[in-house]
Amino acid sequence: MNATPKRVEHQLTDKGYVPVYTTAVVEQPWDNYTDEDHAVWATLFERQREVLKGRASDEFLASQEAMGMTPDRIPKFSDLNPILREATGWELIGVEGLLPELDFFDHLANRRFPVTWWIRKPDQLDYLSEPDLFHDLFGHVPLLMNPVFADYMAAYGRGGVKAHGIGPEALVNLTRLYWYTVEFGLIRQPDGLRIYGSGIVSSKGESIHCLESDAPNRIGFDLERVMRTRYRIDTYQKTYFVIDSYEQLMEATGPDFAPIYEKLARLESIPAGDVLESDAVFNKGTGEGWLDEGGD
Ligand code: PHE
Ligand code: FE
Repeated sequence: MNATPKRVEHQLTDKGYVPVYTTAVVEQPWDNYTDEDHAVWATLFERQREVLKGRASDEFLASQEAMGMTPDRIPKFSDLNPILREATGWELIGVEGLLPELDFFDHLANRRFPVTWWIRKPDQLDYLSEPDLFHDLFGHVPLLMNPVFADYMAAYGRGGVKAHGIGPEALVNLTRLYWYTVEFGLIRQPDGLRIYGSGIVSSKGESIHCLESDAPNRIGFDLERVMRTRYRIDTYQKTYFVIDSYEQLMEATGPDFAPIYEKLARLESIPAGDVLESDAVFNKGTGEGWLDEGGD
């Protein structure tokens, strides 16, 4: 089934310039999914569950199982919501695609996670330039079952509303934090580095690349360092930041960001692939395959 939303503007965000829709919350049109839609879900679900064994964080995998998502058909938001609400007070709402920033922040602050209702086509299994149902539901939703991560996401939403009021530079800093944690974060488990970022878990290629390739940097999480770091939207990341725990993330982001935004406004941004003296380095990337240009 095709989405037929009204395009209003393009916004540079998650995965490049993408159309942002005015369309408000929509009911998931579950009965209209085609066999092909369900088959795409099944293929991606089974493929990623296999790839993520031993690669995704234990917490992500366990949460995904606890939610009861299965490969046989696209899950219904209305089946997942009671489970999610019971666990952490979050709920899923259907949307056509990316929302204007302030709307997005407001939903998060109120523990509503917007999920794109439509799913990619069979010839788009490996890459899509905007979020679809698979990225949002398979990638983002499982960790909302985790109480600490669930609180982090709501705090991020409140922080977004605040940053929006401060100005565009503050928003750039905050968006980098989202990018390098929620979308592309790694976590250190006793048995090694694992993935928790949604942009990674919904991509087969990057799931392998981020942990096993020598090319990217893997660096310990540091709030201000992350907020200063530019990123690539069109290739695998040059740098991944590693947290020790979701509690660490929650604690590090607890303080008021207003003075941090003010301080960072006076500092240069850091190119995506740079490694600094002060970094806690797990892996210094070889840079193999990096493109020089691209706004990072
Ligand atoms: N503490 C941040 C602020 O004052 C809010 C925030 C929390 C942002 C968690 C991101 C993640 O703006
Ligand atoms: Fe995302």
